[in-house]
Amino acid sequence: MQSFLVSVLQGKTGYNIELIQPDLDLEVDLGVDTVTQIEAFAMAREKFGVARNEKFRVRNYNTVRKMSEYLVANAVVAPALAEAAPAAKQGAPGLDEVRRFIARCEASGDTASLRRLAEHLEGRLKSASQSVSPPAQLAGKRYEVHPVELAPRVDAPSVAHLKGKTLGISMDAQGAYKALAQMLEAAGARVVILSSGPAPEQGVSLDWRHPESAGRALKELQEKQPLDGLILLHTTAPTAKLDEQEASAWASTVNTFSLGLYQSALAVYDRIGALPGGGWYLVATAGGGLFGHANAQGRIPLAGAAGGFVKCLRRELPGSRCKVVDLDGQDASQWARQVWNELVSADLDVEVGYTGGRRYVFRDVETSFPRESTPVSLRPGSVVVVSGGGRGVVYPCAKLLAKSTGARVIITGRTVPPSGNEEWLKVPEAQLPAYRMSFIKRYLAEHPGKTPVQARRVFDSDIANRRELHRNLEDCRSQGISLEYKVCDMTDVGAVRTLLADVRREHGRIDGIVHGATIEESKSLPMKSSDAFVRTLASKAHLWQVLAQETWNDDLQFFINFGSGSGRYGNKGQTDYSLANYLVAKAGLVYSTLRPGVRSVTVDWPVWVGAGIVENNADYLERLRAMGICVIHVDEGAYWFVGELLYGGSAGEVVIADDRTFETLNLPRHDKEALRVVGKEAGGTRYAI
Ligand SMILES: NC(=O)c1ccc[n+]([C@@H]2O[C@H](COP(=O)([O-])OP(=O)(O)OC[C@H]3O[C@@H](n4cnc5c(N)ncnc54)[C@H](OP(=O)(O)O)[C@@H]3O)[C@@H](O)[C@H]2O)c1
Repeated sequence: MQSFLVSVLQGKTGYNIELIQPDLDLEVDLGVDTVTQIEAFAMAREKFGVARNEKFRVRNYNTVRKMSEYLVANAVVAPALAEAAPAAKQGAPGLDEVRRFIARCEASGDTASLRRLAEHLEGRLKSASQSVSPPAQLAGKRYEVHPVELAPRVDAPSVAHLKGKTLGISMDAQGAYKALAQMLEAAGARVVILSSGPAPEQGVSLDWRHPESAGRALKELQEKQPLDGLILLHTTAPTAKLDEQEASAWASTVNTFSLGLYQSALAVYDRIGALPGGGWYLVATAGGGLFGHANAQGRIPLAGAAGGFVKCLRRELPGSRCKVVDLDGQDASQWARQVWNELVSADLDVEVGYTGGRRYVFRDVETSFPRESTPVSLRPGSVVVVSGGGRGVVYPCAKLLAKSTGARVIITGRTVPPSGNEEWLKVPEAQLPAYRMSFIKRYLAEHPGKTPVQARRVFDSDIANRRELHRNLEDCRSQGISLEYKVCDMTDVGAVRTLLADVRREHGRIDGIVHGATIEESKSLPMKSSDAFVRTLASKAHLWQVLAQETWNDDLQFFINFGSGSGRYGNKGQTDYSLANYLVAKAGLVYSTLRPGVRSVTVDWPVWVGAGIVENNADYLERLRAMGICVIHVDEGAYWFVGELLYGGSAGEVVIADDRTFETLNLPRHDKEALRVVGKEAGGTRYAI
């Protein structure tokens, strides 16, 4: 106990350890102020499970020895001490006996016995905490995302639809484009080869390393000889290993790939949407055939990025024929046939994989928390770092996590908390809309040339967000919940590095990462700018990589991501956001193969009420409800979040939704009976995939 206190004080004061003698007065002799003394005491209290005592006054324990004696005497003691302390007699020892035992061990320097006792107490604390119960009513259910084998359904009318159409194919290094071009021509289509090198006889050259120039060239082509469809095969180039790329290389890989999709889709957007019977937009990747669920060989699963993007494009252009196909890089001889299958397939699946000659689609399989799995162990003293969490939907999750486990949860954001004296903090919530209007009017008068949208953004970032953050921090403070807020722009790699280093220095460990930060600007693809696209990628996909890379050597228990139903199913106006969300979901799967000891999972959420991005969009929420789309309250979301983190077992991607949502969105489903059941266990059923 003494050496723990000394090491904490050393970290806080910078003194050499030998200077902090046990009987020196902390304030008078060592100049350690009361706040620092309380902090050191609180850390020891948390670490050794000493109960809070409202009557405790630090001035009465003014030396390391006195403080340590108090802590030792008040440590929570497990009844079955005999197990931990061989010297103790059989049966449950009394408190005094335990105290004497600890004192004896300390006096004789028997650290081995003390360590065994600490381990034993740790186990007791673990089982004492970590309970979450569901709210009375749950709107959503839990589904795990799995690949499921399904044969292609080549559709004669879809083959006939190709006749007389013009399709552009970008070249792949394996030459599958040649066989595919022949198949298309045999069906009566005209093919334009989009070369990555010198322009071929019947085609043009596009440099995909520069997406903007490729997009320009495609738009010019579109004016001269309009394409009715685009098949991207250059996207099958192998990707780098996920754990071998620095942040800047990752950002460049992801941006170049994603902006290539953005620019190419933009060039054909109007035509493929308007063509009777639908134009084609197909992206092929060669990530192992299962979008990162298996076979990815540790590589960046860009299939996920393509999946999120293409599903949104399909929702924006419902008449079009959009597909994303992940292929098996080991066997390119089948690629042309497999891509052909998807061009002329009749099924609803937008996202399809091929591996070992078999075709896979992805299904949401309703599954309860697997009771047999060992829960993640969080308890007082554990440390969790969260990107975001000061406001929005991550806050209630972080709060419940801290409350139910006692872990220290460090939340982050760019927003600077108010000092507490601001005039706008005093405005009651009910009067905020009127206050906001007067702010906007004043702002516009003082800033000629600015628009109301700009004024509203300033109000949101300067006032609304800071009010929300303030309210949340006060809420936790008043309830004594160990949530700590750090101002940090997490898109700045240096700032993340510093933040994590500070956490390690202050708390000595990082047990888990929660990636919740996001920015989102809904607009249909033609209305999006490439800058907005990259901004969205930065807060979600690039930040995921930075968090993964910067904690690679930490002894993490888990890494959990906030994903989105829009990544899983697509949504109008969210091509960039869904691309980023789905890339993260699949990258999390590959990460778990590289760090099998770390529980890695992404939860694809439905829409939340009570906080978050759509909280102030009452019309939208009403429309969703009327359509029958699952909407969950923040209390329910927080329950699913903490439940998933602690009890989710090894699931890598989970969806919270309901069956009605799947029907409304017309999503392909598998009957449970059609999945091959391989085992029934208490609390759940396992399906063969
Ligand atoms: N709300 C929903 O219905 C819904 C549905 C599906 C999924 N989700 C997911 O849930 C998560 C939270 O969404 P939300 O609705 O709560 O969004 P939100 O209200 O816009 O909050 C976003 C949070 O991210 C933080 N953030 C953004 N950029 C950051 C940066 N560069 N550095 C540090 N923090 C940053 C923000 O803090 P600062 O502004 O202070 O930086 C804020 O705390 C997201 O991952 C989202 O994809 C939400």
